[in-house]
Amino acid sequence: MAINFTLNGELREEASVSPTMTALEFLRENAGLTGTKEGCAEGDCGACTIALVRNGTGRLEAVNSCLLVVGQLDGANVVTVEGLTEKGGELEAVQQAIVTQDGTQCGFCTPGFVMALHALRHSGEAVSDDIIHDALAGNLCRCTGYRSIVDAARTACAVPAGAVSSNDLQAGNAHEADSELYYAPKTIAELIARRAEHPEAPLLSGGTDLGLLFSKERQKFPVTIYTQNVEELRLIDEDAAAITIGAAATYTEALPLIETNYPSFGVLIHRIGSRQIRNVGTIGGNIGNASPIGDTPPCLIALGSVLALHGAGGRREIALENFFLDYRSTDLQPDEIIESVRIPKLSKGQIFRTYKISKRYDQDISSVIGAFHLTLAGGVVTEVRIAFGGMAATPKRAAACELALTGKTWSEESVALAAAEISKDFSPIGDHRASAAYRLRVAENLFVRLFRDIEGSDHVEVMAL
Ligand SMILES: Cc1cc2nc3c(=O)[nH]c(=O)nc-3n(C[C@H](O)[C@H](O)[C@H](O)COP(=O)(O)OP(=O)(O)OC[C@H]3O[C@@H](n4cnc5c(N)ncnc54)[C@H](O)[C@@H]3O)c2cc1C
Ligand code: FES
Ligand code: FES
Repeated sequence: MAINFTLNGELREEASVSPTMTALEFLRENAGLTGTKEGCAEGDCGACTIALVRNGTGRLEAVNSCLLVVGQLDGANVVTVEGLTEKGGELEAVQQAIVTQDGTQCGFCTPGFVMALHALRHSGEAVSDDIIHDALAGNLCRCTGYRSIVDAARTACAVPAGAVSSNDLQAGNAHEADSELYYAPKTIAELIARRAEHPEAPLLSGGTDLGLLFSKERQKFPVTIYTQNVEELRLIDEDAAAITIGAAATYTEALPLIETNYPSFGVLIHRIGSRQIRNVGTIGGNIGNASPIGDTPPCLIALGSVLALHGAGGRREIALENFFLDYRSTDLQPDEIIESVRIPKLSKGQIFRTYKISKRYDQDISSVIGAFHLTLAGGVVTEVRIAFGGMAATPKRAAACELALTGKTWSEESVALAAAEISKDFSPIGDHRASAAYRLRVAENLFVRLFRDIEGSDHVEVMAL
């Protein structure tokens, strides 16, 4: 079956294009739309930004076309920089503002900036400087300087723009071309059946990790199974006790419920990659890739989250802390998929904080991430769950630190004593992100930060240990 989508308003029916060709390659090589640029080919620079309304989302979103594959465009309304100019050659508001505010020099990054801001203009958000910075965190410019680009963003976003609608195309369930089978099931039953038939096939969700295999490494797989059209996997739900996030729901979709229930976790989600990454990337993928430095698993473990896994034999649940077995190894069976994660809500007296340490604030992978979930009653720590990422082969709880704090008075002294236990819990490795000694030191210091944060004080003396 052909992959159907609209590209700058025109219908494309692609029957013979490899479904795992990157959207960037398709645009430049097949469609001749070379306004979309290739910089890094790994989601970091934003030069390849396009905007699209995907089936079922109803929103125009900026995405990195270098990490997206053509199969993911099926049913979408796709807009590239070539599609912005009005008939008669009149520039779109962002393009015009970039010209009048001197927002470009060599111009290589400019189409990416324009598309990121075009999506922002149509997002319906009340645009502030913070929102502009957030929308542009995934776009790098090495010669203009950001001030004039931000000036252009302020000018363009002051002009209101309406929502962009989806088209009425339906995505297909399977595509075959170039000796590749690409399944895009729409129900969980269909997904489980495909998984059982092809346990070796990559499961593709947003593709912000997996996309590198297609983009950078140019790998081909006989079968790929795409999960983001499965309705049950996109569900986001809550009850009195917990929130549940489907494995294929994007960060952008999950963010409102997360930041309402766990504001500190919400701040962290805002720092995952960039808008382009969060518009397609998922918590399911962050768990599924089993990276020791994934940002969400330490938070989810500290919060006591439970995964629902689904396979040919049915559905089962597992506490996330028991899911990670070793470096990049999990309890997921070959016929299973992650269906959802259920995160308990905070009850009275419970506090949750998470801190991400990375070399840059935005768009950077963690060196260390600490997540702290405390229950305080009458000034005493009655329960505590602490988890770290970047400190071991898997995201992991800090059992000795937890033990040292449980039952103690909530005080600077108790927190410092708990921090001193960190080397009993972890023997981190050193790598290009951080040395082992740095990781241990910074993890220890996060306890001090936790105390200051909760007490609202910047003046607590660091205890000599
Ligand atoms: C520029 C850039 C910045 C990034 N920044 C961050 C960051 O700040 N913090 C961070 O933690 N990560 C970051 N990442 C990594 C990535 O964005 C996240 O890990 C994201 O959550 C992956 O989700 P996805 O849906 O794109 O997963 P995919 O790439 O589609 O899949 C990732 C893995 O999970 C598996 N998987 C997906 N869905 C399921 C399922 N339902 N069941 C079982 N397995 C499944 C896949 O098979 C694959 O092995 C970044 C990536 C890029 C390119
Ligand atoms: S080419 Fe750099 S983000 Fe895509
Ligand atoms: S204008 Fe040259 S890289 Fe941005």
